[in-house]
Order: sequence, then structure tokens, then C-alpha cells
Amino acid sequence: YPITAPDDISSCVAATDGVPDVANAVRGTACCPPSSQTTPVPYVLPPVDQLRVRPPADRLTPEYIEKYQEAMKAMKALPDDDPRSWKHQGKIHCAYCNGAYSQEMNGHPELKISVHNNSLFFPFHRWYMIADTTANPDAFFGTNPNPEGTSIFAGKVESGIHTAMHIWVGNPRMPNNEDMGNFYSAGYEPAFYLHHSNVDRIDCLDINKMGYTYEPSRLPWLQSRP
Ligand code: C2O
Repeated sequence: YPITAPDDISSCVAATDGVPDVANAVRGTACCPPSSQTTPVPYVLPPVDQLRVRPPADRLTPEYIEKYQEAMKAMKALPDDDPRSWKHQGKIHCAYCNGAYSQEMNGHPELKISVHNNSLFFPFHRWYMIADTTANPDAFFGTNPNPEGTSIFAGKVESGIHTAMHIWVGNPRMPNNEDMGNFYSAGYEPAFYLHHSNVDRIDCLDINKMGYTYEPSRLPWLQSRP
């Protein structure tokens, strides 16, 4: 620890860790990216001339909802192996959360790469939500940091409200609590992206550099103990 990204993207294997019923995994555990991918292009922060405001879901206008539905339709219409397709976006979570890659570069091929229960949780999911953006350094990386600022434990946001929401939205009648109740399938659920944007809203100190912000909304639960 800290872990590095996989050096060879084709070293990916089926993502079966944490999937109790692999044979009936309705989303499939083959989450590897297509092997024809070219060299990744490093992200550069966008020029921000105007902040885009993300409203809370209960205050979306009909026009906004229509746009969202169109975007979903367009993503779903792309071939599965197009990196922008809905299927491919869903696979990303599966690949980095259910053991598709090992920490070979770190000299630990026996250890799997996982972006949960450690300080990779916030930066990984932030990048993922923005789809093509970079982590913001002004963020909390979870509690219990070690002297390097990393952590091998889940912070309270992750282990508490974050995980509770996954389990609550997942369907216990499905073999692996699909979709939200298992890492391998969570990325296929549209609510996953709302949920993680909200996690980011709670955690991230300065997102404005990336060109968007969240509309202020009430936090009634702050006053009530669970
Ligand atoms: Cu990678 Cu909400 O989990």
C-alpha cells in the first residue's frame, strides 16, 4: 500500500471476488475492458467559464429529465464495447471492486486491487462519476489515515451512509443482491451515479475547478441522531 494501477490492462480476469453466487450473477463477471484500447490520454481540468449546477433529484425540471433520458438512451444504444456505453460504464465498477486485477506492479500478485475500504474510495468514485475527470486534491480520503495520508480502512462516509444505501437499494431476492447490493453489479444501476454524486457532494471540498457545483439543499438529518 499504496497500490498502483494495473500496468497491463489485459492482465484482467473475471471479477468474482465478493460475488457469492457466481453461476447466477445476472450481470456477468466478465468486466474486463476491450483489449484494443489505445494509450490513455491524461485528463486536463476544463476551462471553467460557467459553473454547471447539479440540482437534487427531487427538483429536476421536465426538460432536465428529458435530457437525462435521452442521454441514457444514447449510451444504451452504443455497442457494449464502446467505452461510453452504459454496459461499459457499469463494468468499470465491477473490474476495480471484485478482484479483476492484482497488485503485480507492487510486487504482490497475490493481492487484488480494490477501491473499497481504503483511501482510494473517494478519488476512484469521483473520477468515475465525472467519467473523464481528475481527482480533486482538496478532499478527505476517508478516516484513519496513516502518515502517508492513505488508509487501509473504510472512512465513516463509506462504511456508514454509503454502504447502507447500496444494501437498501439492492434486491435481496436476486442471487447476489443485484444491482446495488453487490459491487460487481452496482455500476449498472442508474441510482448508483446519483448516490455517488451525493457522496462526493458530502465529501469534496472544492469541485468548482471541474466546472460544476451542487445546488444547495436542506440537510434535515443533520439534526437527528440515527
Ligand atoms: Cu464502489 Cu458505492 O461503491
